Amino acid sequence: MNFEFSEEQLMIQQAARDYAQRELIKDVIERDAKAEFPTEHVKNLTELGFMGMVVDTKYDGGGMDTVSYVLAMEEICKVDSSLGVIISVNNSLVCYGIEEFGTEEQKEKYLKPLASGEKLGAFLLSEPEAGSDATHQRTTAEEKDDHYLLNGTKNWITNANCASTYVVIAQTHPEKRHKGINAFLVDKDSPGISLGPHEDKMGMRSSDTHSVMFTDVKVPKENRIGEDGFGFKFAMKTLDGGRIGIAAQALGIASGAMERAIQYSKERKAFGTEIANHQAIAFKLSDMAVKIENARNLCLKSAWLKDNKKPYGLMSAMAKQYAADIAMEVTTEAVQIFGGYGYVKEYHVERLMREAKLTQIYEGTSEVQKIVISRALLRD
Ligand code: CAA
Repeated sequence: MNFEFSEEQLMIQQAARDYAQRELIKDVIERDAKAEFPTEHVKNLTELGFMGMVVDTKYDGGGMDTVSYVLAMEEICKVDSSLGVIISVNNSLVCYGIEEFGTEEQKEKYLKPLASGEKLGAFLLSEPEAGSDATHQRTTAEEKDDHYLLNGTKNWITNANCASTYVVIAQTHPEKRHKGINAFLVDKDSPGISLGPHEDKMGMRSSDTHSVMFTDVKVPKENRIGEDGFGFKFAMKTLDGGRIGIAAQALGIASGAMERAIQYSKERKAFGTEIANHQAIAFKLSDMAVKIENARNLCLKSAWLKDNKKPYGLMSAMAKQYAADIAMEVTTEAVQIFGGYGYVKEYHVERLMREAKLTQIYEGTSEVQKIVISRALLRD
C-alpha cells in the first residue's frame, strides 16, 4: 500500500488551498448572508481547471484523477461548500455521466463546454414525491416521432438557474417501473422550462437551488443517454461517483471546523490557561482528528478504486455516510469549543455546522447510504 501523493496531486491540493485561503475566505460570510451566487469565483476556478477537473483532456477537461479531486474538494470546502457543490455537481453528476455513457456526438456538443467550464450543468433526479425513493419518477418523457415530450417537476436542483445543460431523469414506460426510466440531455433554454424561486436554505446558501418545471418540453431523440430504459441505472451509477464528491465536501467541512477549533483553543484563555490545556477541550480535538482521518481514508480509498477501474459504489456509500455524519458531529463540537463566539457568524463554525447538515441529506441521505451498504453486505 502506498499512502503517498504524487507531485501532481500535491500541486492540485496546494492550488485549491491557496485559492480557498486567499480568495474564498474574503467574502464567504457575506455571500452566505446574501445567498449570492459566487460568479467570480466560479470563473476563477474554471481558469484553474476545476470545473471539469476529472474529465479527459480529449474532451477539454483537466485530465486529473479522482484522488486529486478529493484533495481539491477538501481544501475548497474547508472554506466554502457552496462552491464545492457547484464543482461536484458539474464534475461528478453531469460530466461523468456524459463521458461514461454518452455518444461521441453528445460528448462533442455537451461535454466539451461543460468540461472546459464554459457552461455549467445540473442533474435533475429528485421530485416533490421522489427523493430517497428515486424509482418513483413522475416526470414523464413521452415518445413522439423524432423527439420526447417532457412534463413534470423536479425539486432541489443545484445549479438550476446558472446551468445551461440539464441531465434530466424521466419516466417513458410507467408499466415497466424503473426499467422504463430514461436520462436526457436538455438545453435549459428550451421552450416550456420554468424555474421556481431560489430556495432560501439553511446552509450552502450561495449555491443556486430551485425547482424546475417542464411543460411539453421537446427533447430530440438523439439526446437520450444510453439504451431505452437505461435511465435509472444511469442515475444510480452516476450517484456512485457523485457520493465521492459529497463525501470529500463533508470531509472539508469537518477539517475546516477542526482547524479553526485548534487555533481558537490555543488562543482563548479560561481558568488561567489556554483552553487547549483543559482535557475537556483537548479530548474533543482528539476525537475530531480520529474521525476526520477515518473519513479521509474512506474518501481516498473510494477515489483510488474509481481511478483504478475497480468497483467503488460500496466504498463511496461508506465514505459519504461516514463523512457526512462525522461532519455534523465535528462541527457541533467546534461550535461548543468556541462557546458564545461559535454561535455568531464572524467565527465561521456556525456556518460550517449548517453546511454539514446538508451533506447528510443530498445525493442520498445517510439512511439511503445505509440501505446501499447493508444490501451489499447481505447480497450472496
Ligand atoms: N449501479 C447500478 N445499478 C443499480 C445501482 C447501482 N449503484 N443501484 C441500484 N441499481 C439497480 C438495481 O440493480 C435494480 O436493477 P434490476 O431491477 O435490473 O435488478 C434497480 O437499479 C433498482 O434498484 P433497487 O431495487 O435497489 O431500487 P430501490 O427502489 O430499492 O432504491 C435506492 C434503491 C438506493 C434507495 C435508490 O433509490 C437511491 O439511491 N435513492 C437515493 C437517490 C439519491 O441519491 N438522490 C439524490 C439526488 S441528486 C442530488 O442530490 C444532486 C444535487 O443537486 C446535489
